[in-house]
Amino acid sequence: MSKSAPTFTCTACGTLHKKWQGRCEGCGAWNSIVEEAPLSAGPKALGARGRMVPLTDLATEEAPPPRAGSGMEELDRVLGGGLVPASAILVGGDPGIGKSTLLLQAAASFARRGVGCLYISGEEASAQVRMRAQRLGLTESPVRLGAETNLRDILTTLEAERPALAIIDSIQTMWLDTVEAAPGSVSQVRAAAHELVTFAKRRGVAIILVGHVTKEGQIAGPRVVEHMVDTVLYFEGERGHQFRILRAVKNRFGPADEIGVFEMTGAGLAQVSNPSALFLSSRDTPAPGSAVFAGIEGTRPVLTEIQALVAPSTLASPRRTVVGLDSGRVSTILAVLEARCGIPFAGLDVFLNVAGGMRVTEPAADLAVAGALLSAREDVAIPPDMVLFAENRLKEASKLGFQQATLPKGSKTGGGEGMKVRQMDDLTAFVGEMFGAG
Ligand code: TYD
Ligand code: MG
Repeated sequence: MSKSAPTFTCTACGTLHKKWQGRCEGCGAWNSIVEEAPLSAGPKALGARGRMVPLTDLATEEAPPPRAGSGMEELDRVLGGGLVPASAILVGGDPGIGKSTLLLQAAASFARRGVGCLYISGEEASAQVRMRAQRLGLTESPVRLGAETNLRDILTTLEAERPALAIIDSIQTMWLDTVEAAPGSVSQVRAAAHELVTFAKRRGVAIILVGHVTKEGQIAGPRVVEHMVDTVLYFEGERGHQFRILRAVKNRFGPADEIGVFEMTGAGLAQVSNPSALFLSSRDTPAPGSAVFAGIEGTRPVLTEIQALVAPSTLASPRRTVVGLDSGRVSTILAVLEARCGIPFAGLDVFLNVAGGMRVTEPAADLAVAGALLSAREDVAIPPDMVLFAENRLKEASKLGFQQATLPKGSKTGGGEGMKVRQMDDLTAFVGEMFGAG
């Protein structure tokens, strides 16, 4: 990098730009690009001889990493089976979603099982954190607590204490005195994360960084550090809904796309080991516009309810409001229903929602979406004891009392013993069977 050229970085996604612009081409965010001071003391000339890098061959056997369990099953599963020593983990999420609560509970669980745990809060005073611990009933757990934002002091403390796990809440409050930028700026967040991750690897201390997702451009978001860490978890939830989903979006030590489900209660986060029951609204009476989808989240089958409302539109281009599903896929499904099955949605407003604020991304949900749309349009309820698309997810559905399943031809039907399983050639057959149309 030439030493005089300043760089411009998107605080949302970390993309580098040559000049300032209003909108980041990388992620499409507005007003997220900030100027960064050029690196002051870059390496001048690499004249000095370095040391030899130790080389191995590909066949050298590597033992699987030993893991420490927290005993919080929903957390351990998302981590890929527990905490890997010396790993760096980022936990991102909206402010107020419950990250500090989750991590204080996790710290207490780890510490109780003998994993030495240090919790550094840069946002709250120790007294505040202790008050939360009291409310959560965690005061007996041997977690060591500190309130500090100066990273030099924190690293000195970690060096002396050598805990197995250090939690830094949050990375946006940390600052290094060697970087001339405000805490929360891209340069500070990046430098602080780099120091912490390097420390984690060198000293064998697992580090969890908390990162607030930010809407405005002045504070760097967690995406800026995503590439530096081994594992990226996002803590998500809808305001007004009590449950929270911890989702692995990147994991060097386990499967990505795994989820853990929690419920925010007055006494902290409670684990939800049977999420299907949570994501289904009460299903006693058949309701037009509702279809249950048997999906897979990570390694676990989860049933969710797709809800559709179809109503005559007064607009020139009718509304297509989609929550919890990909709107592009929904457009495709509407086009297929129209072109292949002869069921027009022109002149109709379409509202689609996944119950409970869940997000469904699997293409396998298409049949359930089509079912919900048709059911709403024709005002015919799908039997409340039927799931759409199943495969080996049938077991979960059967366990929850579903009696029949409809799935594409050729799907595996194992696990659905005792259920009435219908296999459909295509969407046209499905429409004919269910709604007597097409
Ligand atoms: P917090 O963990 O502080 O969020 P974050 O660190 O992501 O900003 O959680 C804040 C919210 O959680 C706050 O609105 C209060 C709520 N909460 C509960 O409902 N029950 C509890 O036991 C606790 C500790 C918090
Ligand atoms: Mg917090």
